[in-house]
Amino acid sequence: MRILVTGASRGIGRELCLFFSQLGHEVLAVARSEEPLRRLAEENLNIEAWPMDINQWQELADRLGERYSHLDLLVHNAAAFINKPFREVALEDMQQVYHTNVYVPYFLTQALLPLLKEGSQVLAISSVGGQGGSMKFPGLSVYSSSKGALNILVECLATELGEEGIIVNGLALGSSATEMFKAAFPDMEAASSPEEMAKFIGNFAIQSPGLVQGKVYSVSSSNP
Ligand SMILES: NC(=O)c1ccc[n+]([C@@H]2O[C@H](COP(=O)([O-])OP(=O)(O)OC[C@H]3O[C@@H](n4cnc5c(N)ncnc54)[C@H](OP(=O)(O)O)[C@@H]3O)[C@@H](O)[C@H]2O)c1
Repeated sequence: MRILVTGASRGIGRELCLFFSQLGHEVLAVARSEEPLRRLAEENLNIEAWPMDINQWQELADRLGERYSHLDLLVHNAAAFINKPFREVALEDMQQVYHTNVYVPYFLTQALLPLLKEGSQVLAISSVGGQGGSMKFPGLSVYSSSKGALNILVECLATELGEEGIIVNGLALGSSATEMFKAAFPDMEAASSPEEMAKFIGNFAIQSPGLVQGKVYSVSSSNP
């Protein structure tokens, strides 16, 4: 498979690139931090570094379109995060987080449609905080609501793109020990390592075609 993973410089995205590369898949790794991305590609077979800000989605899609005619799996893993009390949140905070977490999955998918053929998969990495009825935490209104929008987007895209045979699903993750988790819950211990989470995500992506469409599953054994 040819796989694009956004947010590949650290955390779950980096581990996901390693998981797929070790199975022999061709991985295109995207993030802004050039150095860790370059090392990831140099030290591992099958991974190519694409240092970019995903908010420039058209540029990314154009570059991909110049080189490839199809993509098997698009993983929207990169996310922006902010931990701020509701009273202090400014419009700019919300715009920045929603841009990365909602606009990019929406418009990068749209811009990559020429490469997404029958059987191609779009997988959105979301959060249990974005699931209706899950426990909510102070300071996370912007981030969690952006993931709520992403969850509904998965259902909407599955309806429209499913007609063309494109598979769209989401995984709403629980806690995993990454920089983002530390920023959200500085005093707590995560229930999983990024390696464990990436293994689950990778296996789901490999197994879901034909069986799962338009679903957002929680991947969580604790709260958060
Ligand atoms: N860890 C958890 O407990 C947890 C729980 C629920 C959901 N999730 C979700 O899991 C996914 C991965 O999270 P994580 O914990 O691994 O986070 P992380 O360690 O903070 O990593 C985030 C990744 O996204 C990249 N990124 C952010 N903005 C970007 C941009 N504009 N352009 C390109 N890359 C960008 C970062 O790289 P650069 O800074 O180099 O660009 C980094 O590689 C996210 O969608 C997150 O919401 C995580």
